[in-house]
Order: sequence, then C-alpha cells, then structure tokens
Amino acid sequence: MSNSNPQSSATLSQDDLKTLVGQAALHYVVPGEIVGVGTGSTVNKFIDALASMKDQIKGAVSSSVASTERLKALGIPVFDSNDVAELSVYIDGADEIDGQGNMVKGGGAALTREKIVAALSRKFVCIADESKLVPMLGKYPLPVEVIPMAAQQVIRQFAAMGGQARIRLKDGQPLVTDNGQILVDVTGLQISDPLAFESQVSQWPGVVTVGVFAFQKAQVCLLGTASGVKTLTF
Ligand code: 5RP
Repeated sequence: MSNSNPQSSATLSQDDLKTLVGQAALHYVVPGEIVGVGTGSTVNKFIDALASMKDQIKGAVSSSVASTERLKALGIPVFDSNDVAELSVYIDGADEIDGQGNMVKGGGAALTREKIVAALSRKFVCIADESKLVPMLGKYPLPVEVIPMAAQQVIRQFAAMGGQARIRLKDGQPLVTDNGQILVDVTGLQISDPLAFESQVSQWPGVVTVGVFAFQKAQVCLLGTASGVKTLTF
C-alpha cells in the first residue's frame, strides 16, 4: 500500500475525500485513448477532474445516462460501448470493497452498464472513501437488477439464503433502471465467497445483473483516508 498526502487531513470531509480520489484517478487515464467511466458521487468528482484533460483523450464510454449527461456537459465525447473493442482502464466507485478487490456496486442503480464497461476494460480502478473498505462483503444492501416478472421469485430465493430482499422504490413506485428493469436490495447476507455467489445468483432466471463484482473486480483501489489517498493493489 502506498500513501500520498496532498493536503492536511484533519478537516477532510467525506466529500473532500471523494474529490481527492477523483483527482488521483487522472493518473490512470491513458492519453490518446478512450476511458471507461462509472457512475455515482465519487465518479462525478472524477468526471469534473477529467475535464482538465479532455483535449488529451479521445473520449469516454459511460455506464449511465447520468454520467453521459455530465461528460457531455463538460465537452467530453461519449462513445457507444459497441463501437469499442477494449478499454485500457475503467474508473468507478463502489458501495463496498474488500481486501481482495471484490466489490458490491449498484447503489446508484447503474450496476448492469457498470459491469458491461468493466468487462471491456483491462484494468478496473476503484475510487472510494475509506468507509467503503470492509473485511467481508454484505453489510451494504446488495443491489440486484431483475426483470419485473421475476422479482418475487428472486426475493424468495434470497430468503432461502437468509437474506431479506426488497424492491427499490422511488417516489413510492419501483425504481426503473436505465435498462427499463427494476432492482431488489438484499440485506442480511455475508458474502464469504464473492466469485461463487456472483456465479450462483447470475444464473437465476430473471436476474439481469447481481451487484457483486468479483469476476470484474478492481485491480487498484484509490482509497481516500484521513491521512490522504492510499493506493491498494490486488
Ligand atoms: C452506482 C455505483 C456507485 O459506484 C456506488 O453506488 C458508489 O457511489 P458513490 O460514489 O456515490 O458512493 O455502483 O451504481
């Protein structure tokens, strides 16, 4: 683990930590190439920082409508993922990350597109504040994108595993993802074998994407801590 401390840390808020890791991620952007861009409040800091080098990159592949809009507003060209065979790097946040680089993602409802862009990329650089580092995945409610007609069956399958799953609501109605599907959030799980868990749940009929990222885990995590940005490599 390496440590850089660009400013005094005593008064750093969580927002400051997100800004620091968003800026630190610029180091991994390859000039002349297209960069994969995730979704969320930490990634928004990265997108804002990326504007400073927009003339040095071809553009971005985005993982959500929200990130696409932010990128375009800053003048960064956005490419369709189908027009790109491979990306050198994908920068995204996480809801949880463990000591091996496995993550839970999807708090911002973008997990399916995030997993697609991550799978296109040779390297996943996770940017997160230190509250996201956990010994074992499962504390944060696990997002799972499902086709609506499968929702109750998926909820029963999680109950059989000891989890409590609920449909995510927005304004009292099921939240509809960028892909026109819905989400269930699952609590009460302890995900001791992320690869096996991701593999198992991904096979359930009607599951579009499970928010465990073990097959597409991070190779690097830039962690915002009270003593600066720490670089974890996996
Ligand atoms: C969106 C995600 C985000 O990366 C995750 O929710 C973290 O978001 P934030 O940076 O706002 O804490 O997976 O689907």
